[in-house]
Amino acid sequence: MQNAPHRMGGLRMGLGAMPLSLKGRPERPAALRVVRRAVELGVTFIDTADAYALDEADTGHNEVLVAEALRGMGAGFGGRDGSPRVRVATKGGMIRPGGRWERDGRPEALRAACEASLRRLDVERIDLYQFHAPDPEVPFLESVGALSRLLGEGKVAAVGLSNVTVAQARAARELVPVVSVQNRLAPWELGETDIPIVTWCRREGLTFLPYAPLGGSGKVEGVLADPALQAVAAQVGCAPAEVILATLLHLSPTVLPIPGASRVESLESSVRATGVALSAAELADARRACRSLPGAPSLPRRLAGRASRWLRRGGGG
Ligand SMILES: NC(=O)c1ccc[n+]([C@@H]2O[C@H](COP(=O)([O-])OP(=O)(O)OC[C@H]3O[C@@H](n4cnc5c(N)ncnc54)[C@H](OP(=O)(O)O)[C@@H]3O)[C@@H](O)[C@H]2O)c1
Repeated sequence: MQNAPHRMGGLRMGLGAMPLSLKGRPERPAALRVVRRAVELGVTFIDTADAYALDEADTGHNEVLVAEALRGMGAGFGGRDGSPRVRVATKGGMIRPGGRWERDGRPEALRAACEASLRRLDVERIDLYQFHAPDPEVPFLESVGALSRLLGEGKVAAVGLSNVTVAQARAARELVPVVSVQNRLAPWELGETDIPIVTWCRREGLTFLPYAPLGGSGKVEGVLADPALQAVAAQVGCAPAEVILATLLHLSPTVLPIPGASRVESLESSVRATGVALSAAELADARRACRSLPGAPSLPRRLAGRASRWLRRGGGG
């Protein structure tokens, strides 16, 4: 996949811009500082969505913010000095009536959402347009067909999927060249090294964009306070979040994490994680710590998962 985000050069750490627009979001100047600091530190991939907002009336808050931050840097979307260009990935397919998260994968809704995102991001073509989540009310391939047409018309440079299974991703690729998959991959899932969608993306050359890599805003504090994880961090000489992100980077060369940040300090720490070298023993300790985090799959569930993967591969080796 030539235009898959992990192949575009730049730092192997993106910015998830969502916390800049949801409840508890920072004031606008502070939010703009987070995006600009990311670019200063070499981040070249920013993940946003039209639905990153308080509610329907606020739709597009995050996209407008990201566009304003980049424009205000004078670098536009970057790349003019020979450095890798900053790429902004957005999504369509979710709506926020009354602040709730609902899906809308109707082709006409996706087209309208994409056109609105083009205007808000103030670009002629969206770098990466992701289908936010399959809509149970709309046949999946009808939604994907809408993305395929947007690609054909040049409104989007590349298409990605989010919240999909391997089977859905495979089916979508029959219709459109998909370059990325964005699914949840929380720290408590990192005890495993063979995660089907991650392994599949690696084999097919697609970027895997793990969301909630630190457990999501509601859980991050508890995760980072975990004593086993803190012990690994102390041994390595970095912060617990950096251990998790470094472990994630080890999972597959096509993984590009997109930790969210509403504070510059969080972002700076995530960027530092790209320089954290874990020895084999430290990596094993980190995975063991992840495996015992609350929320991690129990041993019987892990064994059942392994057995079914072994059987799917036809058994043996
Ligand atoms: N496709 C989807 O359905 C979907 C769903 C959820 C999220 N996403 C995307 O994925 C991104 C990441 O997910 P997320 O934001 O929900 O969860 P997350 O990255 O696991 O957690 C974000 C929280 O972790 C804190 N944090 C980040 N880096 C840190 C560090 N190095 N040290 C200490 N704390 C750190 C931040 O705190 P501060 O806020 O205090 O800086 C932030 O609020 C989102 O921003 C969004 O772009 C996509």
